[in-house]
Amino acid sequence: MRIVILGSGKGSNAKAILQAQKENQLGRGKVVQIFTDQPEAGILALGTDYDVPATFLDPAPFRTKLEGEGEARYIDAIQACAPNVIVLAGFMRVLKPGFLNAFAGKIINLHPSLLPSFPGLDGIGQAWRRGVKVTGCTVHYVTPEVDEGPIIDQAVVRVEPADTLDTLAKKIHAAEHALLPAVLARLSESQG
Ligand code: GAR
Repeated sequence: MRIVILGSGKGSNAKAILQAQKENQLGRGKVVQIFTDQPEAGILALGTDYDVPATFLDPAPFRTKLEGEGEARYIDAIQACAPNVIVLAGFMRVLKPGFLNAFAGKIINLHPSLLPSFPGLDGIGQAWRRGVKVTGCTVHYVTPEVDEGPIIDQAVVRVEPADTLDTLAKKIHAAEHALLPAVLARLSESQG
């Protein structure tokens, strides 16, 4: 199962996937390429560390979505990788129908809350400010409605009395780092 990772940030989830692959914990999954829309993203360094191509791909002309020329660049470059799965690991752009149709049913997203609660930006902060006692993370298929596609799996994190926003964020990230590689391993076995 050929995996392309898209990310915009530090890439801790991309790293968790690559580490699982290194430890033979990714089933038949294999990361073939990482793309980022941020030229300075930490995720780029993973390419060297794990010997996988990691490339900045210009998303212009838009700031928060992938459409027009940028979308065409991403579609062409990703198609050239012939992926079975595209993982959005902190890719902070809204994908439009052109991209979604090019890779129908193959795009999965990671979100730091128990969807359908707290979609959109800052899922961890939203949950923290609302005072929930249980939150977590979700892996789901991507559809045109942001954070609304079919849920593949979730992990639960309890908010303890001693937690701060910072400790809660750390617990959710740890849950993500376990959940996302496990989902990919399972998908790879079901894809045959
Ligand atoms: C993760 O917490 C992921 O759930 C979140 O971005 C972070 C990326 O971290 N995604 C979203 O909020 C999408 N709406 P990373 O770059 O260290 O993997």
